[in-house]
Amino acid sequence: MFKVNTNFQKLPGSYLFSTIAKKVAAYSEANPNADIIRLGIGDVTQPIAPAMISALHSAVDEMGDAKTFHGYAPDLGYPFLREAIAKNDYQARGCDISADEIFVSDGAKSDSADIQELFSADARIAVCDPVYPVYVDSNVMAGRCGTYDEKSGKWSDIIYMPTTAENHFVPEFPKETPDVIYLCLPNNPTGTTLTKSQLQLWVDYANKNGSLIIFDAAYEAYISEDDVPHSIYECTGARTCAIEIHSFSKNAGFTGVRLGYTVVPKDLVFDGVALHGMWARRHGTKFNGAPYIIQKAGEAVYSPEGKAQIKEQVGYYMNNAKTIYTGLKDAGFEVYGGVNAPYIWLKTPDKMTSWDFFDYLLEKVQIVGTPGAGFGPSGEGYFRLTAFGSAENTLRAIERIKNI
Ligand code: MLT
Repeated sequence: MFKVNTNFQKLPGSYLFSTIAKKVAAYSEANPNADIIRLGIGDVTQPIAPAMISALHSAVDEMGDAKTFHGYAPDLGYPFLREAIAKNDYQARGCDISADEIFVSDGAKSDSADIQELFSADARIAVCDPVYPVYVDSNVMAGRCGTYDEKSGKWSDIIYMPTTAENHFVPEFPKETPDVIYLCLPNNPTGTTLTKSQLQLWVDYANKNGSLIIFDAAYEAYISEDDVPHSIYECTGARTCAIEIHSFSKNAGFTGVRLGYTVVPKDLVFDGVALHGMWARRHGTKFNGAPYIIQKAGEAVYSPEGKAQIKEQVGYYMNNAKTIYTGLKDAGFEVYGGVNAPYIWLKTPDKMTSWDFFDYLLEKVQIVGTPGAGFGPSGEGYFRLTAFGSAENTLRAIERIKNI
């Protein structure tokens, strides 16, 4: 008889953002006239900028002509995009990464969920707490996390590294040595980050202990401070311990078109096995390449017009971040993030739980945010607002919060 993967049954509830969507839909149905402002999921609201739209249009036209039609894309990505990425995101920053170490994909979410296929079944993973839930849930599905304790909100076999106001959002090295360390910097959900010298310590730690770092750089475009690294490969020695994952969703508004990439340096060798070859084998077997038209739009991100346009869009969202940050501060909230990331992380007032605060904001002022507890036990007592709304809605939301 068919046997299901029972690891799925261990997962509590539904995926965080699905749970929130269901709650908001129920509220909306009961209050059809409610003017709800959504600052929950980190989804962009501004349209894709003209340089990328124009690239999409001409690529679509190419697909309609036998002479320029493209079928299956190369499974690791078109050379024009891999080269643009290597040149602009790495070599221009002094990082030693070549085009053949870039693996183009349909987004950072799938890569960050799938990368665990490279780990042994008994690998010990370490995550910051709070954390982007995909890292944890994907390892749970693979049977790597033990059992879930409802009371503590923790998995028995995961190493948690609290990152809270108490340690200034700088994770400490765990007591037990992990095989894999997930780092998302600038961080989702806290909106905080590490300086280059703080990240260097993690690279040194991983190299010393033979650990692999999965570095999620999805929010890199939002960095405004000089001492914050845009890539882990700015740190010495990262080529032998780190995989880096990137998104085009947050910098170029591609949440609805899907494009991302992962960097696997050839120097990443464990037990005599190169992870580059493993990921190439996996990509070749399970993936038929991101669509040509989308990769052409990705290439346009690196054109002079594309660069200028996405810079303006990032600036637009960062203005929202400032509006939220200063508005909440003025209203007396304890606020973090929002300087190098499009997320603002606040302490819930009056020691409310984060889900109670979620309900309170939705019912009182029709604002949707994300409860910190949804990102892990150390997220309890915190709440996340995103800067990805429209400027108008962001201002209205902050006025509403100030008035309660
Ligand atoms: C978030 O809200 O945390 C993000 O939208 C998650 C994602 O990018 O998948």
